[in-house]
Formats: sequence, structure tokens, C-alpha cells
Amino acid sequence: MSYYNKDVYNELDWLNKISYFDDWYKIVEPILLNDEFQRRRLFIHHENSVWEHSIAVSFKSFLLARFYHLNERRAAIAGLLHDFYPYAWQSSPELEKIDKGYLTRYYSKSKKISDLHGFVHAKEAALNAKKFFPDLVDDAILSCIRTHMFPLNICPPRYLEGWIITFMDKKLSLNILKDVKKLPKYVGIHLHN
Ligand SMILES: [Fe+2]
Ligand SMILES: [Fe+2]
Repeated sequence: MSYYNKDVYNELDWLNKISYFDDWYKIVEPILLNDEFQRRRLFIHHENSVWEHSIAVSFKSFLLARFYHLNERRAAIAGLLHDFYPYAWQSSPELEKIDKGYLTRYYSKSKKISDLHGFVHAKEAALNAKKFFPDLVDDAILSCIRTHMFPLNICPPRYLEGWIITFMDKKLSLNILKDVKKLPKYVGIHLHN
């Protein structure tokens, strides 16, 4: 099994019939075709993958930015990279098979509260975005990534596009937020391991 696909455009058939898809795709194509980004297909994000979740947040944030005449590029790129932290914090069979090195054994009992995934991954994602895509990100995009976990992270977004991403990320994670039993997982605590 390989995770990499150079025909991402056609693969996104759950999105590519929607108006403005092509405008969004043109902005984010270099990221979508990047090997390190595609590796996020193997990273679990609640009920799907970090890859799928990031694409949904990015595209929907782009649409909202367009609607409100904000910076579409900022919303699209920051949305796509908002969870681009450098490790997988949950195991999956595919990851075990292909890229085990990316799996950080993540046991909450061995960590301080302030080190839990929910508190640190926004900052880690911003650093990783700068490392892999230095020509595509700027300070405003990095700020939107860094603040997307507000109010769990106390620093609020400085840009309207950052507020959109923060809102869209929560909206798409609503299934978890609705279920009180799943809240520890949202913060980064694994109750069963
Ligand atoms: Fe996040
Ligand atoms: Fe997210």
C-alpha cells in the first residue's frame, strides 16, 4: 500500500464538483502534491484522517473568506496546514505498516497537562509549516495556524481568516465536541491504550 497519489485533483471527487473548487485548488496544489503533506492520510483525526480534515477546513474556510471578501489565499493555506504537526499522536494499522517512525507513542499519563496534544499542536504545526513550505507561508498564515485552538490555547486569532479557521475546525469536529465522553480525546488524552 502506498499513500502517495499525484492525481489528487480527481481523487477529491467529494469536493471537486463544487463551485470555486478550481480557484482553491490552484492556491493549494503545491501542498496537496507534497509527499510530507500526503503522509497525513495515515494520521488519524477523530473519525477520518488529518489529510481529509485539513482539506475540508481549508476549502470551507476559503469559501467563507471569499464570501466575506477576506484574504482567500491566507484562509486556504492556513486551513490546510492548521494541523500539520510533525508526528502522529494516534496509531493506525496503515501507519504501523508504512511509516512507523512518525508515530509518537503518546501516553497522557507520562505527560504534563500543558504538553497534551490539544495544547501544543497548533504551535508545532506552525513551525512545521514554515519548515516544509517556507515560500508559501507568511507571518499572517503562521499566526492563523498558531491560534486555531483558541480558546483551548488562550491566545485568540489576530486575523479574521484565523477566526474563520478556528470556527470551521470546531464545526467540523462537532461530533466530538457534542459527545462529552470524547472531550478528553479532543484535548489529547487517551483513555484507552
Ligand atoms: Fe488542531
Ligand atoms: Fe483541526
